[in-house]
Amino acid sequence: MSTDIRTVVVLGAGTMGSQIAAVAALAGYTTALVDIRQEQLDHARAQLRSRLDRDVEKGRRTRADVDAAWEQLTLTTDRDAVAASADLVIEAAVEDLKIKRSIFAELDRVCPPHTLLVTNSSNIVSSRVADATDRPEKVCNLHFFNPALVMACVEVVPHETTAPETVDAATAFVESLGKTPVRLKREVPGFVANRLLNALRREAVGLYEDGVADFKDIDLAAKTALGHPMGPFELMDLVGIDVVYLIRLAEYEQTGDPSALPARSVKEKYEAGDFGRKTGRGWYEYPGA
Ligand SMILES: NC(=O)c1ccc[n+]([C@@H]2O[C@H](COP(=O)([O-])OP(=O)(O)OC[C@H]3O[C@@H](n4cnc5c(N)ncnc54)[C@H](O)[C@@H]3O)[C@@H](O)[C@H]2O)c1
Repeated sequence: MSTDIRTVVVLGAGTMGSQIAAVAALAGYTTALVDIRQEQLDHARAQLRSRLDRDVEKGRRTRADVDAAWEQLTLTTDRDAVAASADLVIEAAVEDLKIKRSIFAELDRVCPPHTLLVTNSSNIVSSRVADATDRPEKVCNLHFFNPALVMACVEVVPHETTAPETVDAATAFVESLGKTPVRLKREVPGFVANRLLNALRREAVGLYEDGVADFKDIDLAAKTALGHPMGPFELMDLVGIDVVYLIRLAEYEQTGDPSALPARSVKEKYEAGDFGRKTGRGWYEYPGA
């Protein structure tokens, strides 16, 4: 475990927050997973239970480690009660700047002065939430990848006035999770990995919309020629087309660059509610999802 951090609170029990909380609990941290909706916590508990049990069956983890993690993990709607004793809060709530700013302002009021407040946002840089607090030096992005239980990379992204001690503590925390910290020198929308991914996705959607190849064949090329484990369209379905869409909008709002706007075909799927695996249909069909 990291020496300075013992108690972790994760806000938002969705796709990312639930697995980030599990990763922290598996590493031995006293962890609370918070959501505003009890049904979301119930869903997260069921999902994590089946995921971790499957890991045990497949020999990826021991039963003892998983049982110990459940001992460390609390799921609750009472944010303020758990925030009062947090050393680190990881915000993984919905990708909406107004909501994130109010969360950071409220956390600043209820957390002890030493608590680090980080955001898992994919596209909202932490300077945009840090100034909602009186502790901007203790705020940065800590960007996990989906699925957080599996993916090694975590980007550590300081804003202009993040203290070096905050970056060091966040980096040590990531290492203590058994993950690989990738440190950025300064914040930039999309950070590093998603900038690379966006370039590939933009090109893939462009080729599809221009009628050059079917999306399935574009996925096939990415897998069989480039050695990617998943094609860009399969990945959009996994991440959630709603998330992809909102990330692009957030980038457009930050940069004003019209090329950041979501592509036509992505917008159509978003407006139809075809978000990918989570809704049973995106680029591909997922019967029984
Ligand atoms: N989905 C991904 O692949 C991915 C990857 C990396 C980072 N992220 C980032 O992680 C964050 C969460 O994304 P997600 O895909 O897990 O979203 P999600 O929609 O699956 O989950 C968001 C959760 O936040 C909860 N919530 C909303 N307001 C809240 C509040 N005030 N307090 C506590 N909980 C609240 C919602 O009830 C929901 O359960 C976003 O900022 C996103 O940019 C997502």
